[in-house]
Amino acid sequence: MTVDLLLGLQWGDEGKGKIVDVLTSKYDIIARFQGGPNAGHTLEFDGIKHVLRTIPSGIFHKNALNIIGNGVVIDPVVFQKELEGLEKFNMDIKSKLFISRKAHLILPTHRLLDAASEASKGKAKIGSTLKGIGPTYMDKTGRNGIRVGDIEMTNFKERYRALADKHEAMISFYDVNLQYNLPELEEEFFTAIEVLKTLTFIDSEEFLNQALKVGKSILCEGAQGSLLDIDFGTYPFVTSSNTTAAGACTGLGIAPNKVKNVFGIFKAYTTRVGSGPFPTEDFEEAGDIMAKVGNEFGSVTGRKRRCGWLDLVALKYAVQVNGVTGLYMMKGDVLSGFDTLKVCTAYQYKGQKITHLPYNIEPENVEPIYTEMKGWHADLTGMTSYTELPAELKAYIDFIEKEIEVPITVISVGPDRKQTIIK
Ligand code: GDP
Ligand code: IMO
Ligand code: MG
Repeated sequence: MTVDLLLGLQWGDEGKGKIVDVLTSKYDIIARFQGGPNAGHTLEFDGIKHVLRTIPSGIFHKNALNIIGNGVVIDPVVFQKELEGLEKFNMDIKSKLFISRKAHLILPTHRLLDAASEASKGKAKIGSTLKGIGPTYMDKTGRNGIRVGDIEMTNFKERYRALADKHEAMISFYDVNLQYNLPELEEEFFTAIEVLKTLTFIDSEEFLNQALKVGKSILCEGAQGSLLDIDFGTYPFVTSSNTTAAGACTGLGIAPNKVKNVFGIFKAYTTRVGSGPFPTEDFEEAGDIMAKVGNEFGSVTGRKRRCGWLDLVALKYAVQVNGVTGLYMMKGDVLSGFDTLKVCTAYQYKGQKITHLPYNIEPENVEPIYTEMKGWHADLTGMTSYTELPAELKAYIDFIEKEIEVPITVISVGPDRKQTIIK
């Protein structure tokens, strides 16, 4: 019986999908605990590249069961497309993908509300993926939401209509000119609901706890990153769920004392997509090189990701909030070619040097203090063992481990499953 967590420690897109796929063979069950189709988790193996949105990243493995937990929000329309995208792989998805009845549904009007809210904010917009995430979680906590289990109830359509009508009234309050054809969106939605109904709905907290009792092992897959957490992220420029370790307990119904390892994933540098503060963002050549070499374009929206140096102040904070027991460093290969690397080890904050993440990290309050390190030029992408890595990269890894006080156990040197070095 094991429950391990795997989550992102920065602003998302750290490479969670790749690592879940790499680890799946060690687990019986892979369970997504929060977020929804705002996530884009990329997997690459055997020359295939695939991006998953709501479906857990263990789906390509023969024996693992994949669970979409109660903490996830599901857009049936996106989900249907996701299933269609997997058809070519000829997998028996229905036998290995179960959905929590308590997961909330994203309605077409949630997406419209997201668009209206963002448009009304002008320059202060969050930079949302516009997938309806915020409005759906608002209905969840406001106790108005519709859940997967409601599809099985006789009054599902009435409940849908009442909520959609309320949303339409809300949309009209926004002073924005939103063009939409709701009947068309609804037709698409109800067709997708029929597809969703072909999958197995479960009481997932019961299912998972019974699985633990008979000795099964579970890997909980996080979405987004710790700095996008609704409580601990750079609010209000965050997502609407708890992306940190506690979110796995509430998002799956697994008690905290059942959790063993917390694997924290971070990029060897930092990226962020959407608005919000980013102290180590690099507006010069280095940021452009990271974006280009790292192919830093959003897997969901295609937006260019903002890039900058590794921020150990923020990383230390994320490690603390999550209780990380092992670190996975991703995309080390992208840093090959720099003569000098910068690592942020402290902030200048209101005239003082601090090493913790303060309440507000907007540029007017925070200036990063960097330590410079020697870079490396070797191409890492074909390396398969720790001993092969250049001395400068080993020094970079040692430095991070000393600062963060948690071991780096895996170094990823390329997008493929095989480009993964265990230290
Ligand atoms: P996720 O949301 O955390 O699953 O990450 P994404 O899939 O959105 O973004 C990570 C991107 O980096 C994807 O395009 C991956 O294929 C790619 N990737 C993952 N690990 C590595 C790595 O070690 N090196 C390189 N160059 N790319 C990687
Ligand atoms: P994965 O799981 C990176 C960002 C958006 C925006 C903010 C709020 O692939 O790492 P939302 O749509 O949730 O209302 O957007 O959060 N964001 C992500 N950034 N990776 C993600 O997921 C993200 N999911 C949301 O860009 O700034
Ligand atoms: Mg992503």
